Amino acid sequence: MEVVVLAAGQGKRMRSVLPKVLQPLAGKPMLAHVLETARTLEARRICVVYGHGGEVVRERLDAPDLAWARQAPQLGTGHAVQQALPHLSDDDMALVLYGDVPLIGVPTLRRLAAAAGGERLALLTVTLDEPQGYGRILRDTAGRVVRIVEDKDASADERKVQEVNTGVLVAPVARLRDWLGRIGNDNAQGEYYLTDIIGLAVADGVEVATVQPDAVAETLGVNSKAQLAELERLHQGHIARRLLDEGVTLIDPARLDVRGRLVCGRDVEIDVNCVFEGEVELGDEVHIGAHCVVRNARIGAGSRIAPFSHIDGSVMGQGCVIGPFARTRPGTVLGADVHLGNFVEVKNSVIADHSKANHLAYVGDADVGRKVNIGAGTITCNYDGANKHRTIIEDEVFIGSDTQLVAPVRVGRGATLGAGTTLTKDAPPEQLTVSRAKQLSIANWKRPVKQPR
Ligand code: UD1
Ligand code: CA
Repeated sequence: MEVVVLAAGQGKRMRSVLPKVLQPLAGKPMLAHVLETARTLEARRICVVYGHGGEVVRERLDAPDLAWARQAPQLGTGHAVQQALPHLSDDDMALVLYGDVPLIGVPTLRRLAAAAGGERLALLTVTLDEPQGYGRILRDTAGRVVRIVEDKDASADERKVQEVNTGVLVAPVARLRDWLGRIGNDNAQGEYYLTDIIGLAVADGVEVATVQPDAVAETLGVNSKAQLAELERLHQGHIARRLLDEGVTLIDPARLDVRGRLVCGRDVEIDVNCVFEGEVELGDEVHIGAHCVVRNARIGAGSRIAPFSHIDGSVMGQGCVIGPFARTRPGTVLGADVHLGNFVEVKNSVIADHSKANHLAYVGDADVGRKVNIGAGTITCNYDGANKHRTIIEDEVFIGSDTQLVAPVRVGRGATLGAGTTLTKDAPPEQLTVSRAKQLSIANWKRPVKQPR
């Protein structure tokens, strides 16, 4: 099958500099959703018809399996499909999709393609209580489709028809080429209507089949931010429903956002207002507290992320205890049973099993061993203003509070660093290292006082 995606519309009603089809749904351009669907169908070729100002669309989404056809000026949907024809093979079927109809589903399209077979024209239609604005499907007394009439061209009687054209259709390429060469623009909008091919197909004795989508939402188009927001909620609702069906506990399925792929093990629990971005994998019995953002992460079984934590580009072992208010940045690799408490930031660091940093710490560009205790206020000074250096903390090290480790530096196995140490040289194993000035007390010292005048 060949797929043509119409994406030339400007989308003035979005009131945005970003072209309509690049507006994100679940964190990804609407057009990218449609392209993903087309790829799932194993299309032989995907041709995107883009319009004036659409170069950014092409730059953003170009891929080796895509062909691009520019449509300028935009003279209607029939004219748009015509621009794609040079890319299509006559021996194949063409599926027409829309860059601003992002929820169209693969099962629906497979049924549509099956209805078309190798030689019929198949239309995706829906029956609406309020069909205003849509092209109407006109049938003869035997129920066969005769043609489509656009709302603006329809008579009062034709406007009463509730079965409407979604725009999605499948047709044999060779026929499509012929029909599109024969359509005109003598209609209310002065446009070349793709829908006029239906009448031509009937005249040519080509059978016209109709198929209904699994859900009407699949055929909803986006023309405004309000419609985009509606589709976002619908889409998130489907994702939440799927997670619930898989056995995930969602404290409130209406307060979850998945912008990417979320894979969950058994008995995962997700509290309210969490956002998942990119590729996220949660092991069995992982618990995510309220208001967490988790992005491109793998979290081991039994780990608990307390509220308001931000997890990004991180891998965690089993039974970790993270947050509240923890931040792990890209390159964070935690072993099993690692504890990171409030206001602890970890970046590009490996922290091995059973190590803890429970309060107020920055661990950056570090290799931390097993059973290490990192005291409150500890900071790796990894950046000298020009270069980043690594800090190595071996197993069973105890780091007192408010310590600065000026990298590159190594703390030997079992060493203890006294609170307040500024470590600029390696600390030997098993010993206590302190850099703090000696404490002294001055007897008979008097605090200065203001003299009354
Ligand atoms: C079209 C159908 C109508 C159907 C409705 C469903 C035609 C003539 N009419 O009407 O039967 O009920 O969709 O929403 O096809 N586009 C281009 N280039 C153009 C014109 C349009 O790329 O020159 C793209 C638009 O960006 C949009 C899609 O085609 O994604 C549909 O265009 P639109 O103008 O919204 O068609 P409607 O008048 O709504
Ligand atoms: Ca429209």
